[in-house]
Amino acid sequence: MIKVLNNIFVLEGKNIQYAFGPYKGLLRHIYFGNKADEKDFEHFEIRDISSNDSSCDIAWEEYTPWGGLRYKEPAVKVRFSDGTRDLVLEYDGFAIEEDVLRIMLKDKFYPIAIFLNYKIYEEYDIIARWVDIKNLGEEDIFIEKAYSCEINIDGTGYNITNVLGHWVGEGRRFKQRLDGGKLILESRKGNTGHNNNPYFILDIDANEDKGEVYFGALEYTGNFKILVEATPYYYTRLLMGLNDFDFEYKLKPSEALILPKAYIGYTDKGYSDMSHRLHRFVRDIILPVDLRNSLRPVLFNSWEATLFNVKCDEQIELARKAKDIGCELFVVDDGWFGERYSDSAGLGDWKVNRHKFPNGLEELIHEVNGLGMDFGLWIEPEMVNPDSELYRQHPDWVYRFNNRELTTSRNQLVLNLSLNEVKEYIFNVLDGLLTNYNIKYIKWDMNRPFSEAGALNLDIKEQKMIWFLHSKAVFDLIERLREKHNGIEIEACASGGGRMDFGVLNYFDEFWTSDNTDALDRLFIQESVSYIYPAKTMRCWVTDCPNFINGRTIPLEFRFHVAMMGSLGIGGNINKWTKEEIELAKEKIKQYKEIRHIVQKGDLFRIKSILKDEIHAIQYVYQGESVVFVFKLYEKFGRKQYKVKLKGLNDDKIYEVKYSDKIVRKGGAYLKNVGLELILDGDFSSQLIRLKEI
Ligand code: GLA
Repeated sequence: MIKVLNNIFVLEGKNIQYAFGPYKGLLRHIYFGNKADEKDFEHFEIRDISSNDSSCDIAWEEYTPWGGLRYKEPAVKVRFSDGTRDLVLEYDGFAIEEDVLRIMLKDKFYPIAIFLNYKIYEEYDIIARWVDIKNLGEEDIFIEKAYSCEINIDGTGYNITNVLGHWVGEGRRFKQRLDGGKLILESRKGNTGHNNNPYFILDIDANEDKGEVYFGALEYTGNFKILVEATPYYYTRLLMGLNDFDFEYKLKPSEALILPKAYIGYTDKGYSDMSHRLHRFVRDIILPVDLRNSLRPVLFNSWEATLFNVKCDEQIELARKAKDIGCELFVVDDGWFGERYSDSAGLGDWKVNRHKFPNGLEELIHEVNGLGMDFGLWIEPEMVNPDSELYRQHPDWVYRFNNRELTTSRNQLVLNLSLNEVKEYIFNVLDGLLTNYNIKYIKWDMNRPFSEAGALNLDIKEQKMIWFLHSKAVFDLIERLREKHNGIEIEACASGGGRMDFGVLNYFDEFWTSDNTDALDRLFIQESVSYIYPAKTMRCWVTDCPNFINGRTIPLEFRFHVAMMGSLGIGGNINKWTKEEIELAKEKIKQYKEIRHIVQKGDLFRIKSILKDEIHAIQYVYQGESVVFVFKLYEKFGRKQYKVKLKGLNDDKIYEVKYSDKIVRKGGAYLKNVGLELILDGDFSSQLIRLKEI
């Protein structure tokens, strides 16, 4: 609900409130937190400290322009065509249209309008914030910096949680207290990347079950920036949006730049509640409508099994095995096209390799469909190998600078998506594949960051727009494809988890969480991802041992249990699995199908974490049903007995609990307070507990 009282705007959710309004020439933030009586809100007077301490810096501004006596990080900075770089924004009224509160700000002299947009999703206690900047004049305006949102909260010394990841290390979470200065989380790579992720968690002393947490995520994939500033004036500011590094947007007369949406929330009930709100929000609001309500199929993916060496006969054999164990979708990964025998050639030539598929892809698809499975295909549309037909024909289609050599990475270059010909080429390739073949699933990969990020087709003053234009082009392409080909499932991948963000989840259905498929490392990675992203969006495969990254061998059941905590896939060479392994796979996939609605739609509780406990336990609860996965890594001093106290159950209900070949009936209060006694025997032991309200 949006309320307006005495020029104070109050956004109200089920539990939260957000208040701000114009006061004495500034748009001032008032409050963000649990509900109060909105009639009590008022602006605080600013007490000056000295001529060195600007009142603008002391004030909590809702969207700080750069200009005048301001030294804090601005939310927006522009340059007018006469060289003036000072923005003086004045409040110019508001409008409420279709549940969106639009605050209008205009410069005192120059023809620029900035609209701050707010929408509160009451059920979820989440606020969407975005900004559009419009050029109302006759001359270009240059936007040098423009965040999507600014938050001001009382006090300093907040802990900031994010990841410090890398390829196969996506889950390396860190928590850092900020008593002073600034902390920046960002990507400069052109994609979101593995290093930091576009979300924030701020808290003082929260844990899973209690404590105040401010959180948010950005609906963008690409160069993002989150800046947290502990100000000298006893408050903390956070800005989140497009990265201003190498960024400048030329806003032409009457053009508007719409910035990505930022979603923010607050809870005083700790990290679990934060995750529940975000997960529900992603599932119900962010994900593309097409498959939003359906459950993700169990897939087989060929990558780890056959790498680039895909051959029709062998894939058919894999498909038969995949069907036998219960897979519903068969995905051929890299290697099916062009001269693709390794990563050094072929990207860009999206035509079926006739040596590998003498009768075309049709033969395999026919077989897969005949078995009753859907068919999916890998593609990396934004890339090209210099050793490809496409590059030989269009060497000018990649990002480049004059007088600079091109730097390859994984032997490939990035296509310039600000070029219409490139966008059309990619669209036609994908449209052709989806039209000519019965393809129900696309894995859209992106395996290198940008370099020499110049677009020779663009004006010299538009060069720094490419980061933004590229990301927008990817989303536009997906949108066009979805319009034409309804119901296609699309997975985002960027060397594993380099494209996990709300932007991706608004267009794609899920992401590949990590190339690291070692079940132990995955416990860390998936736990870390689960803070923000729901299990349904996390693809998890069971692969072969020894694992290709670290040579570790882990029992198959443990590997299954780990992968069953997200959207399950099989990525091992099942042609080589023993009879016993195949039998176990059948049993586990059957079990997964029985519980996947709980995993994919339920609330997730991090009950125990191997980061600090001897065992790891993750519980999912959905409408009177629950499932708990428990893991022990190694047996310490002969200890086998553990207690697991459950969460999210109804104290007054009785549950039928199935575990360790036992079935017992226990009350919700008992399971919560006393807990279940479990025997975990030996290294890498795991258990799956199922509960149903009776
Ligand atoms: C990336 C992906 C893998 C696989 C390969 C194919 O590394 O993360 O899953 O698709 O590319 O080359």
